[in-house]
Amino acid sequence: MSNFVDPKLVPKVKLYTGEEIPCIGMGTFGSDRFTPEQVSDAVAGAIRCGYRLFDCAAVYGNEHLIGEVFDEAIKEGVVGREELYITSKVWNDKHGEGDVLKSIKKTLVDLKLSYVDVYFVHWPFPNYHAPGCDGDSRNPDSKPFSVDRFMGTWKQMEELVDMGLTKTIGMSNMTIPKLEAVLPLCRIKPSLIEMELHPAFQQPELFDYCVGHGIQPIGFCPIGSPTRPERDKTPDDVAATEIPELIEIAKAHKVHPAIICLKWAVQRGQIPIPFSVYENEYVSNLRCTTEDPLTDKEMAILKSVDRNCRLIKGQVFLWEGAKGWEDLWDLDGTITK
Ligand SMILES: NC(=O)c1ccc[n+]([C@@H]2O[C@H](COP(=O)([O-])OP(=O)(O)OC[C@H]3O[C@@H](n4cnc5c(N)ncnc54)[C@H](OP(=O)(O)O)[C@@H]3O)[C@@H](O)[C@H]2O)c1
Repeated sequence: MSNFVDPKLVPKVKLYTGEEIPCIGMGTFGSDRFTPEQVSDAVAGAIRCGYRLFDCAAVYGNEHLIGEVFDEAIKEGVVGREELYITSKVWNDKHGEGDVLKSIKKTLVDLKLSYVDVYFVHWPFPNYHAPGCDGDSRNPDSKPFSVDRFMGTWKQMEELVDMGLTKTIGMSNMTIPKLEAVLPLCRIKPSLIEMELHPAFQQPELFDYCVGHGIQPIGFCPIGSPTRPERDKTPDDVAATEIPELIEIAKAHKVHPAIICLKWAVQRGQIPIPFSVYENEYVSNLRCTTEDPLTDKEMAILKSVDRNCRLIKGQVFLWEGAKGWEDLWDLDGTITK
């Protein structure tokens, strides 16, 4: 079978801005496990195979190499810039006045682009941790969420749209209480919200809240991130691909359970951004959106397997006095201070 999946066959999702973007993209976080070269090679392969949406971020430490890949693919005529949908994210140590502009400028130089399609606030706190640090590490300067501080960052994001440096802007790792507080204050509403979404962590309330507000959910760790950094693993974590009902459905479709996670995501309506450096995996991840859909019954079964199991708990972003990772996620319905 050819390794090319015609991008025209990949379903599209319409944002409130009118822009239509592919229903699936490729993640580019090497999880401290894959080198920047391995990730950028995978991006090069993925463009040739028909991927058009790539989820990048400054903190992934590989935008300078991925930029070379984009530049080459565009110059060689493999793909036009306007056919690509490229996201990037401002990291937590670049929320201060003037820093967001500096951050996107650096990203644009690295990615060798004049604009990105979506620019996200990666986490809603200015809380920095060193790349690759262990799970217990804490930064004494870390602070709880503040509406004023966040809006100071968001205003800078809105100016990037005015300047044409990004087409739209998005948020990531948000909660309903935080969105309730900030959405009425936004001049430009987020077009997408990136959040952890897989069959073992479906976040139905946040998902419905976003859809109800015309904001497109984009799901990270769509396969349950089996290769995530050790600091993000705990003994109680549930692996999405090991849920018995999901394995049964995978057997019926004669595919790997990872593929069922992605079909479920696309049919539910979120945009999954699976990561893989292996061509056979990333090609099948893209192709599965174009063939052999899940039945309504299978979708209902998968809806019922939610284990409310958050994998990316974010404990390295906690501030002094915080009780535990739950404080980042406003579990009692109010913003934790
Ligand atoms: N906004 C945020 O805060 C945030 C947080 C986390 C992630 N992200 C984004 O989300 C992307 C995806 O998340 P992720 O990489 O953590 O998790 P993921 O996509 O759920 O899992 C990736 C792993 O799944 C396996 N896999 C992929 N395709 C497969 C297939 N067809 N068959 C079998 N196994 C397959 C691979 O493991 P093997 O190598 O073992 O095959 C791969 O390393 C990231 O790259 C990043 O862009 C964003």
